[in-house]
Amino acid sequence: MISDMKIEDIIGDYREAELSLYHSITRKVYYTEIETPYPDGKLIVSSTNPLGFITHVNRAFVEMSGYLEHELIGAPHSILRHPDMPAAAFQDLWNTLQNGEKWQGYVKNLRKDGGFYWVKATVIPNIRGGQVVGYTSVRRKPSRAKIAERIQLYRTLS
Ligand SMILES: Cc1cc2nc3c(=O)[nH]c(=O)nc-3n(C[C@H](O)[C@H](O)[C@H](O)COP(=O)(O)O)c2cc1C
Repeated sequence: MISDMKIEDIIGDYREAELSLYHSITRKVYYTEIETPYPDGKLIVSSTNPLGFITHVNRAFVEMSGYLEHELIGAPHSILRHPDMPAAAFQDLWNTLQNGEKWQGYVKNLRKDGGFYWVKATVIPNIRGGQVVGYTSVRRKPSRAKIAERIQLYRTLS
């Protein structure tokens, strides 16, 4: 399950939104305009099981998300879902992965403290003995030009 965000974790002026997640789950989120820039020279890595629940995170993931590792392991990856991200982007991600293909895209992620960070993500299925046993996402620093482009594009999608 995924819990609502907690007001006491939020840093700065915030707005609130109710996200509609997969399986008709809703989550109340609080979000601010405070951006954490992507750290130079680092990869942010996570893996999930086939249902999208987090099974592994690296140190950069923990630092950027603002959560503790034990809060992330076992949580659905939508714990990072930002209200500015259109559902269509994640539909495309899951359709692509379910076809056994790699997905690349730009994602605005929500931190535990309500702030956000942009990533350029590459997500691949992990195949063992012909079966999908999970997925791994490796994230790099996105260019400001691409971020500006996605901000415009995502406003037009839902
Ligand atoms: C390996 C992997 C990494 C993912 N990384 C993110 C992420 O960083 N941020 C995010 O919002 N969703 C990420 N997702 C997509 C989520 O699983 C989820 O589909 C999305 O947050 C939208 O939530 P929903 O599918 O419940 O509607 C990832 C999925 C996989 C398989």
